[in-house]
Amino acid sequence: MIERPGSTDAVVPAPGLARLEVGQHWHLVDLVPFRFQPRVRELVGASLGISAEALVERELNEYVMEPRRRLVGFMDDHDPLALIGLDCPQGDRGSVLHLAVAPQARGLGLGRQLVLQAAGRYGLRRLSAAVDAPASMFFQSLGFAVHCAGTALDGRDRFECIWEVSGDAR
Ligand SMILES: CC(C)(COP(=O)(O)OP(=O)(O)OC[C@H]1O[C@@H](n2cnc3c(N)ncnc32)[C@H](O)[C@@H]1OP(=O)(O)O)[C@@H](O)C(=O)NCCC(=O)NCCS
Repeated sequence: MIERPGSTDAVVPAPGLARLEVGQHWHLVDLVPFRFQPRVRELVGASLGISAEALVERELNEYVMEPRRRLVGFMDDHDPLALIGLDCPQGDRGSVLHLAVAPQARGLGLGRQLVLQAAGRYGLRRLSAAVDAPASMFFQSLGFAVHCAGTALDGRDRFECIWEVSGDAR
């Protein structure tokens, strides 16, 4: 049974994104120190759609080596439950590199809240994600614009999902 821990931290929703349930929220934590935990590795593997240990290891190392990368998520007690990895090359612009919610916690709104909180924490005004068809529907439900981006080598269609704050929407 997943319980939503209370938190006194204020939610910082990204401007212009979809609805946020204020009052019941998870506390966003830096997951880099937890990168050796099996659950973090499982989540990165789920995000990649492949659980190759060497690839997961390489991806996680990038969050240590590359200052513009961020790896944050939600913990259920001491157990990582959801994870988002971002590349933030310019101040208020970022792209989603990894995103996954543990199977038993999907459909509860954690993925939505994770994107909202991460975008808010880093002050992003533009966020993009290159994903497959199922993930594109998730991003579309959050208010991202979805564009076809061709077909990958594995034959699966790819989509570019973009959310952008225009003007003074902040
Ligand atoms: C995609 C993923 C992160 C969504 O997380 P989640 O916590 O289950 O999503 P939420 O409960 O916050 O759902 C938010 C909205 O997205 C929709 N949604 C979520 N997954 C969806 C899917 N696969 N297809 C269509 N819609 C989906 C939900 O219906 C919900 O819409 P609503 O609010 O209009 O009802 C999660 O399913 C996952 O970890 N998938 C495996 C890894 C993956 O594909 N990662 C993305 C590639 S980077």
